[in-house]
Amino acid sequence: MSVARNRPIGVFDSGVGGLTVVRALMAALPHERIVYFGDTARVPYGVKSSATVAGYAAQITDFLLKCDVKMLVVACNTMAAVAMNVITDMSPVPVINVLDAGAAAAARATRNRRVGVLATLTTVHSGAYVRALESCRQDLTIVSQACPLFVPLVEEGWVDHPVTALTAREYLAPVLAAAVDTIVLGCTHYPLLRPVLGRLAGDQVTLIDSASTTAAEVDEVLRASDLACVEQRLAHHEFHVTDFPQRFRAVGELCLGRALPDVHLVHW
Ligand code: DGL
Repeated sequence: MSVARNRPIGVFDSGVGGLTVVRALMAALPHERIVYFGDTARVPYGVKSSATVAGYAAQITDFLLKCDVKMLVVACNTMAAVAMNVITDMSPVPVINVLDAGAAAAARATRNRRVGVLATLTTVHSGAYVRALESCRQDLTIVSQACPLFVPLVEEGWVDHPVTALTAREYLAPVLAAAVDTIVLGCTHYPLLRPVLGRLAGDQVTLIDSASTTAAEVDEVLRASDLACVEQRLAHHEFHVTDFPQRFRAVGELCLGRALPDVHLVHW
């Protein structure tokens, strides 16, 4: 069992967005080893069909299971929205996803019961956030907004840039007009835009990102399954990407605020 406890946690996304979850995991669980997968060759996922995204999710799940992970963290709302069945059917280890964590946190946070959801096109079209929010609370008014330009802007590293601010203003307008007091950042890339989104939304609106809630859930499930790491040394993480490792490293270091020495290029 001690061997199982010392196995890594597999975390995955289409690109750098899942690093927002990695950052929270590193802070909450500094001894846990992480193997991260970013599908930089095929990002963005959020403008692709459910069937395509599910096929990609299956490939990544297979890759990470071969890395002998003890848990999978789906750090991508789009995959969580359309591919959870595929992932859980393949996985003999526990699977945690960011979408349920984000919905639960938003349902707890709203005071006026009006919640905005910013997410990718595929996530919005799937209706997964509306279902997840309604399963937490039935008395919510939910306004969803697809933001397809955000992911390319983040992957470019334009997290606080005039073009990003203009784009965000457009996307936020209908959501703010609906007088929401809580906005879910329903894509793991979006927390990197928090400074811009926070300025535009104002102090009265709570921005929810699921990173810390997901990290807390990972902690809980690891303990409950007797899988929490027992080694008290600084963990050595690995990062795998499908294209441009140097570019992932540069943007990823911005996101994580630390060096990323081990970025490997995956040849499928
Ligand atoms: N970061 C992912 C999400 O949470 C995917 C975004 C994309 O690739 O379009 O939805």
